[in-house]
Amino acid sequence: MKNIVLIGFMGSGKTEVGKRLAERLSYTFVDTDRLIEEKRGKSVAGIFWGEGESRFRELEVSIIRELSIRALSVVTGHVISTGGGIVISSDNIRSLKKIGLLVWLKASPETIYRRVSSETHRPLLNLDDPLAEIKRLLSFREQFYSEADISVDTDGLDVDKIVDVIIRRVRSKK
Ligand code: S3P
Repeated sequence: MKNIVLIGFMGSGKTEVGKRLAERLSYTFVDTDRLIEEKRGKSVAGIFWGEGESRFRELEVSIIRELSIRALSVVTGHVISTGGGIVISSDNIRSLKKIGLLVWLKASPETIYRRVSSETHRPLLNLDDPLAEIKRLLSFREQFYSEADISVDTDGLDVDKIVDVIIRRVRSKK
C-alpha cells in the first residue's frame, strides 16, 4: 500500500488517527507540524506569533518539498499527518499527491468545535467566536480538501472505526 497523507481541518483527528493507522499498518508516522517545529526549534504557535502566518506557510512548503524528495525513493511505509491549512495552495496539493494517497478526514464545524474547544495551542482559533471562524475557514478550504483521493466522514466515529474505514477504502482503491 502506498504512503497515506491525511488532510483535513484542525481537530479532524489527523494526528491521533494517523498514529493509530501507522501502528495498524506497521508504517512510520510523520507529522508535518512536528517536522516544522523540529526544524525551527519553536512551537507552531511560537512561529505564528513570532514570525507570522506567511512564514509558517513557507515552512510548510519546504517540508512538503523535503518529503517529496524522500517519497521518490520511499513510496510506501509512511502515514503523514498534515497541518489543516497545508492544502490552501494547488501546488501543495499536487506535491502531496506525489507523496501518497490523499485522505481527507471530514468533520462538521460542530464536531471540530467540540474537539478543539478545550485546547489553546491553535493560533488561528484563539478568538472570541471560534465556531464562526471554523465555519468561515472550512467553507473556504472545502474546495481544496475535496481534491483528496478518498474522503472519510468522521462525525460520530471513534479513532479505531475511522482507521478501519481508511484501510478498507485505501485497499479498494488499488
Ligand atoms: C493550521 C492547522 C494546525 C497548524 C497551524 C495552522 C491551519 O494544524 O498547522 O496551527 O491553518 O488550519 P492542525 O490541523 O494539526 O491543528
